[in-house]
Amino acid sequence: MAMFEISSKKIFILLCIIGLFSLITFTLVAATLGTLNRRLNAMSPTGMATKPKLNSSLAETIRIDDLMTHLKQLQRIADESNGNRAINTRGFNETVNYIYNYLQNQVSGLQIKRQTFRLKNFALAKIPILLSLINGIEKNYSYSTLLARSEFNYVNYSTAANFSEYIPVVRISNYGCQESDWRNASHFVALVKAGGKCTFAEKSVLARNNGVKALLFYSNGENSYSLAPFIVRLRQSNELPALSLSYAVGQVLVNATLSSKVAVKMFIELQNLPTFPVDNICADTLQGDARQTIVVGSHSDSVPVGPGINDNGAHCSGTAANLVLATNLARLYQTTNYSKYKYRVRFCWWAGEEIGLAGSTYHVQNSRNMTEVGERLQDYLLNLNFDMAGSPNFIFGIYDAKTAVDGTPSSALSGSQKITELYRDWFIRQSLPWDYRDFNGRSDYGPFLAAGIAAGGVATGSDAIKTAAQREKYRQSVGKSNAGFAGAILDPCYHQSCDTLANIHLYGYEKLVQAAAYGLEYLGQHPDLPRWLYPNGRM
Ligand SMILES: *[C@@H]1O[C@H](CO)[C@@H](O)[C@H](O)[C@H]1NC(C)=O
Ligand SMILES: *[C@@H]1O[C@H](CO)[C@@H](O)[C@H](O)[C@H]1NC(C)=O
Ligand SMILES: *[C@@H]1O[C@H](CO)[C@@H](O)[C@H](O)[C@H]1NC(C)=O
Ligand SMILES: *[C@@H]1O[C@H](CO)[C@@H](O)[C@H](O)[C@H]1NC(C)=O
Ligand SMILES: *[C@@H]1O[C@H](CO)[C@@H](O)[C@H](O)[C@H]1NC(C)=O
Ligand SMILES: *[C@@H]1O[C@H](CO)[C@@H](O)[C@H](O)[C@H]1NC(C)=O
Ligand SMILES: *[C@@H]1O[C@H](CO)[C@@H](O)[C@H](O)[C@H]1NC(C)=O
Ligand SMILES: *[C@@H]1O[C@H](CO)[C@@H](O)[C@H](O)[C@H]1NC(C)=O
Ligand SMILES: *[C@@H]1O[C@H](CO)[C@@H](O)[C@H](O)[C@H]1NC(C)=O
Repeated sequence: MAMFEISSKKIFILLCIIGLFSLITFTLVAATLGTLNRRLNAMSPTGMATKPKLNSSLAETIRIDDLMTHLKQLQRIADESNGNRAINTRGFNETVNYIYNYLQNQVSGLQIKRQTFRLKNFALAKIPILLSLINGIEKNYSYSTLLARSEFNYVNYSTAANFSEYIPVVRISNYGCQESDWRNASHFVALVKAGGKCTFAEKSVLARNNGVKALLFYSNGENSYSLAPFIVRLRQSNELPALSLSYAVGQVLVNATLSSKVAVKMFIELQNLPTFPVDNICADTLQGDARQTIVVGSHSDSVPVGPGINDNGAHCSGTAANLVLATNLARLYQTTNYSKYKYRVRFCWWAGEEIGLAGSTYHVQNSRNMTEVGERLQDYLLNLNFDMAGSPNFIFGIYDAKTAVDGTPSSALSGSQKITELYRDWFIRQSLPWDYRDFNGRSDYGPFLAAGIAAGGVATGSDAIKTAAQREKYRQSVGKSNAGFAGAILDPCYHQSCDTLANIHLYGYEKLVQAAAYGLEYLGQHPDLPRWLYPNGRM
């Protein structure tokens, strides 16, 4: 799940404790998995004898052990690669190779492709400088790569800045999520608050469109961001210089704009590094009409700070889910009694999700340029996306097509709504709790949806907080031991180093992937998907 948002810094001691805990848990996982699964079945409200049918042969094949086998391999890869699987690291390369080799060697009946593309890369050439001028007094802020000692931080994918003259600062209203917040900001350096219902990347696009010179992100303490300057990533396509401020510096500048004129100088010097290749992997069923392709995607990279076991690791829980879906569908296709789909299914593992959906965006853009049948945008019927699937304090979250962002092509909405309802109805029939989830385009379905392709999916949640009412709803239908905690974040290790094998809820994960499988089978066996998804035609 892409953040482009903040990873709040953890207190060192807490990190050590969690690290130790994770280590112990990791070494115990192999030994205890069998026990856990027995407990899991005992705990399961849909326990063996009374278990209602999952209403899908593909869903019936989904087993937590198969999912965990892949996650253990991904954890091993992260452990051997400085603890993460972010792009341009050995951990990412090994992840892609693992997916590719597994599909190639262990699964028959799929055609596997690598799609290589290149990403920009650069480093700071010098220490960045930030100076302010308030009431004629100049102040030079300190910079350190140790964030706790720094007054500001370089924002990843900030452009260079060389402001030899002071540039006036304007404080942006609200969170800078709306066009109207930026109305008076042209030619200013914008002081913009962290948080709100949009990403930093979306703020930077609005800023650029409104003629802003540069961005200073601050926290006003109403969110969980720490006192140190926070970590922000923009997208590769960002066009503005940007820094994040410590809480104290943010307060000083915000205060000053209320009573006096504030101006800043910024110097950010970058050094271009060679671009580097990254690979999307896709695996196609051999059967089914290539001109009517169902794309099932998840992303393969983690954020640099952790192994990403839920974010693939939550985002690898989706990676593994997609591997099991592909494997199990290919195996069902080898049996004679499974009703094969009219449509081709293309399972994809997108690279670079965490830096702004780079892999899926490239794939969609590239498909616009393709002329080969089966590779063109028009050959894609729909996109199912499975990002975080094993969150410890899980919800069964369904992307709610009604919350698609303004400007989403209307041709994509009707089909997306049907996918939402399809999942919702399954959870209802299974007597399982469920929740809607924002369909804000911040995971890899975003580029498909924006291109007019119906999309949907299910996920167990990231940085939202479980309410007391939600917890009670889950307690009533899946039992106390699976209901989690009210007032706690759905994935407490979201984008952190503790996103390890211990950061997976076995029952929630298995059920969510079964739901995912049900949806795929329902769509695959639908007699007339194009008409069902696009009653008014496409585009
Ligand atoms: C199974 O799913 C179909 C739709 O695919 C639905 O019409 C039917 O009611 C479901 N049956 C059960 C027992 O859930
Ligand atoms: C990852 O693999 C690519 C080739 O696909 C290679 O060029 C690159 O150096 C590798 N990166 C690392 C960090 O191993
Ligand atoms: C920005 O992030 C990318 C991807 O994690 C990383 O390779 C790069 O070194 C970062 N750049 C800077 C200047 O921190
Ligand atoms: C501000 O501090 C930096 C070192 O952090 C130094 O290189 C720079 O010359 C200083 N600028 C001014 C105007 O004091
Ligand atoms: C910054 O601008 C000054 C002139 O204003 C110029 O002399 C200097 O070379 C520039 N530095 C960079 C890194 O472009
Ligand atoms: C823009 O400036 C005008 C006049 O100075 C002011 O009335 C308005 O509130 C400002 N708008 C924003 C969004 O700051
Ligand atoms: C901001 O201004 C208020 C009122 O003028 C003052 O009480 C507060 O100490 C100031 N905070 C900072 C960080 O300067
Ligand atoms: C297909 O048949 C095999 C045995 O021949 C059986 O194990 C399997 O459950 C059947 N699958 C479906 C989807 O009916
Ligand atoms: C698609 O084609 C356009 C125009 O030829 C080109 O600018 C763009 O880079 C291509 N995009 C991809 C992803 O191949």
